Amino acid sequence: MAACALPPLGVLLALLCVGAVRAADTVTADRPLSVSQTLVSSGRKFALGFFQPEGGAAGSWYVGIWYHNIAVQTPVWVANRGAPVSDAASSRLAIAPDGNLALFHGSGSIAWSTTKANTSGTANATDTVAVLLDSGNLVLSPASNASAVLWQSFDHVGDTWLPGGKLRRDKRTGEIQGMVSWRAHGDPAPGMYSLQLDPSGAPQYVLLANGAQEYWLTGNWTGKFFTGAPEVAASSGGSGYSFEFVDNDEESYFTYNFAVNSTVYRFVMDVSGQVKGWFWVEATQAWNLVYAEPKARCAVPRGCGAFGVCTEGAATACDCARGFRPRSPANWGFDDFIDGCVRNAQLQCAKNSTDSVSSSTASGSNKEAQDKFLRMDGTRFPDDGRTVGVASTGGCQTACLADCTCSAYAYNGSCFLWYGDLQNLEAGVGDDQAGAGSLYLRLAASELPGARSHKWRNVKIAATALGIACFVVAASILLVRTTRKRRTARLNGLTAGDGCVSYKYSDLQYLTKNFADKIGAGAFGSVFKGQLSDSTVVAVKKLEGLRQGEKQFRAEVSTLGTIQHVNLIRMLGFCSDGAADRKLLVYEYMPNGSLDHHLFRKTFYVLSWQVRYQVGLGVAKGLAYLHERCRDCIIHCDVKPENILLDAAFAPKVADFGLAKLVGRDFSRVITTMRGTIGYLAPEWISGEAITTKADVFSYGMTLFEIMSGRRNFEQGERPSVVSSAEDTTGAEEQATTTFFPLLVARRLAEEGDVMELLDPELEGDADPEEMRRVCKVACWCIQHDVDARPTMEEVVQMLEGLTEVEMPPVPQYLEVLAGRHAQESTYHSAQQLDETAYGSV
Ligand SMILES: *[C@@H]1O[C@H](CO)[C@@H](O)[C@H](O)[C@H]1NC(C)=O
Ligand SMILES: *[C@@H]1O[C@H](CO)[C@@H](O)[C@H](O)[C@H]1NC(C)=O
Ligand SMILES: *[C@@H]1O[C@H](CO)[C@@H](O)[C@H](O)[C@H]1NC(C)=O
Ligand SMILES: *[C@@H]1O[C@H](CO)[C@@H](O)[C@H](O)[C@H]1NC(C)=O
Ligand SMILES: *[C@@H]1O[C@H](CO)[C@@H](O)[C@H](O)[C@H]1NC(C)=O
Ligand SMILES: *[C@@H]1O[C@H](CO)[C@@H](O)[C@H](O)[C@H]1NC(C)=O
Ligand SMILES: *[C@@H]1O[C@H](CO)[C@@H](O)[C@H](O)[C@H]1NC(C)=O
Repeated sequence: MAACALPPLGVLLALLCVGAVRAADTVTADRPLSVSQTLVSSGRKFALGFFQPEGGAAGSWYVGIWYHNIAVQTPVWVANRGAPVSDAASSRLAIAPDGNLALFHGSGSIAWSTTKANTSGTANATDTVAVLLDSGNLVLSPASNASAVLWQSFDHVGDTWLPGGKLRRDKRTGEIQGMVSWRAHGDPAPGMYSLQLDPSGAPQYVLLANGAQEYWLTGNWTGKFFTGAPEVAASSGGSGYSFEFVDNDEESYFTYNFAVNSTVYRFVMDVSGQVKGWFWVEATQAWNLVYAEPKARCAVPRGCGAFGVCTEGAATACDCARGFRPRSPANWGFDDFIDGCVRNAQLQCAKNSTDSVSSSTASGSNKEAQDKFLRMDGTRFPDDGRTVGVASTGGCQTACLADCTCSAYAYNGSCFLWYGDLQNLEAGVGDDQAGAGSLYLRLAASELPGARSHKWRNVKIAATALGIACFVVAASILLVRTTRKRRTARLNGLTAGDGCVSYKYSDLQYLTKNFADKIGAGAFGSVFKGQLSDSTVVAVKKLEGLRQGEKQFRAEVSTLGTIQHVNLIRMLGFCSDGAADRKLLVYEYMPNGSLDHHLFRKTFYVLSWQVRYQVGLGVAKGLAYLHERCRDCIIHCDVKPENILLDAAFAPKVADFGLAKLVGRDFSRVITTMRGTIGYLAPEWISGEAITTKADVFSYGMTLFEIMSGRRNFEQGERPSVVSSAEDTTGAEEQATTTFFPLLVARRLAEEGDVMELLDPELEGDADPEEMRRVCKVACWCIQHDVDARPTMEEVVQMLEGLTEVEMPPVPQYLEVLAGRHAQESTYHSAQQLDETAYGSV
């Protein structure tokens, strides 16, 4: 029962502890399952029992399967998805008289039941058992013969597709098994989005909205990968998973699995309409997102709900249109926007009954408060607009006003009207694009500026407001005077060497002028500029998605606060005011921003070779310190140019270390947008092997390549391939594998070629050839597939300082597979050739 001493996770963990007593994986006729019990699979990987999903409706209980050993509640299958029980205390999961497994209300009525195959007449209630397997599959079979499956949960996939499961199409019945999203965060009822095999019979998956509208396709299976999603391939070139398509007379299905037994992976049809792949990472105790499609969030139909506005590439995909607010605000924090937005103020035309009375007494008020329109430029028009034969903007507006259900109009030569809920609004679209332009959104007059009525009542309100404002100003001046002294005292006490200061939330509000100057947004939250009273500029990071308790947070942060190294960003203080949205970290401010900015041409000047070399060396020193010198070894987990900041003298400082543990959400979000699982991620993240400091070494190596080349390793097409100028490339397949920079470098080294040709062309050859060669070799060693072949960061430092000789690195073969597959994304047509080149070599 030691597990009960873990951080409180409410009912769930309590149930797990009770379950541990029962320690059985089977429901039999004489052993039903009640709310206080849990089935645990024989290898203790999965558990089955009653649960209440996080964020779910109070009093709604479900029977489901989750990971037994994972502290973050993660249901992978739910029995009674659409039929929660409220009388959990008296409900039972039991074998029904007809041999099915059923969930009984206290009254004896059935809330949910399996629909077992009707083949064997031998199985009756006393003879039937339900067993939870270590794969997460719940299997109903005769007690006398476990291999005769009567029903199994793997044939009734919910929103999660586990390794070993099948997404199949039964060719005899035409039945299709797909993943169906939850209706909303906390609500397992079947939702709007599904992923399934193409009903037309083509060997591909389709994503469907409302079971009908296709919005993404994987492309046909070539036998090795999907043409439209090449990162999902038959095997991952050594990192341990296999993906298989089976197609025979009876059925066709895909299935996948991992060579390493301990890998915990799941594909989920997410509420957001994206299909997502998640790995559990023990080191960080968090789910790590490694796959998400479609990458374009705004491509998901109705993804932001009614009156939600989607912006591609924004930190949060959805926002409410002006004049609207989220219908389910709590869910927005979980990236669930499906419930959309509601009006802040009712439209005038909708206030019929009350107004018909008031307008007779106060005539004219109706007209003045008439609904207004908000112009939204650069908006993609929803496609359900209706044209009316009106030949002017004014006429179009009048036509919309005439119908209370009309919620927007647009005029681009013809007049379009939209009725009811507006769906699929997308902002930030160029006006020159077809089907985009200025949309006029109907709002209550009070939502728009300049809508003030001249009624005396309003003047009175204004006067009162002014009075209050004056009082507030006067009071604040007094208050500021008195608190400034105290604050100044506290804030001035802040100098290097003081360790980590604990701030009040109001202090930080004050320092940042109420978070007015946002200087960045990363995986962990937004960053604001602030100024201490002695004019020291600081960066204040507002953490998002924190999952730790107050005490743990303070403990972690104090540890981070003690870390001091010239190449690590220094934490000056923190704020932990109880509330989850009041967790902030205060850092020294880096005037030259992050490295990606300078490398990838967002500035006017080019970083010289000397600076680049020093940046590479400095980052290596910083990471070596994190890995070896700190009291507890810290794995950064997210080394990339965005997390390397430059001070006024362009000396590098590594940022965001230690936060993965603190926040633990999908800190690899950025990585997924960079070509699926490849980017800066070490292969062991994918294979589920233990994550060590060598994972950072890998990411560091990838970053070194970018420092040399001045472009993203996976960036293509923007600039002519380096090789095509040096060699005469023929054919797409050659191009495909040769444009992956790390591979280029490795091959060039192997054939003793001139690596100077690979240098960022912007430097015009102005670099030390010996240093360049050394950096190339070090980077190639860092990205070796074999963890043990990679050097430690300490060794990297010695190599870069020229203290040790660098041997010739082998060409990482697995890269050829990844590079080839990646290139496939941009050069679809040469699938056949790629098979021969990229895959032929492994
Ligand atoms: C199962 O078989 C019995 C008798 O053979 C029949 O009455 C019943 O309708 C069948 N049920 C289903 C679901 O096919
Ligand atoms: C159920 O099946 C078992 C084993 O086949 C048999 O012993 C038992 O008599 C059956 N019970 C009923 C009610 O048919
Ligand atoms: C058990 O079930 C399997 C699959 O239905 C069948 O092939 C096998 O003959 C059965 N064994 C016994 C002992 O009934
Ligand atoms: C995919 O395969 C199906 C049949 O297997 C074929 O009809 C279809 O044209 C293929 N699609 C593409 C894009 O090649
Ligand atoms: C995986 O683990 C199970 C027990 O949980 C064991 O029986 C099986 O042999 C393992 N498979 C591999 C490939 O290690
Ligand atoms: C306005 O009137 C219609 C029909 O008379 C009625 O259905 C609707 O509920 C009314 N709306 C309000 C807000 O009173
Ligand atoms: C006006 O918008 C409609 C609807 O999106 C579009 O189909 C049409 O091409 C546009 N017309 C012009 C002239 O841009």
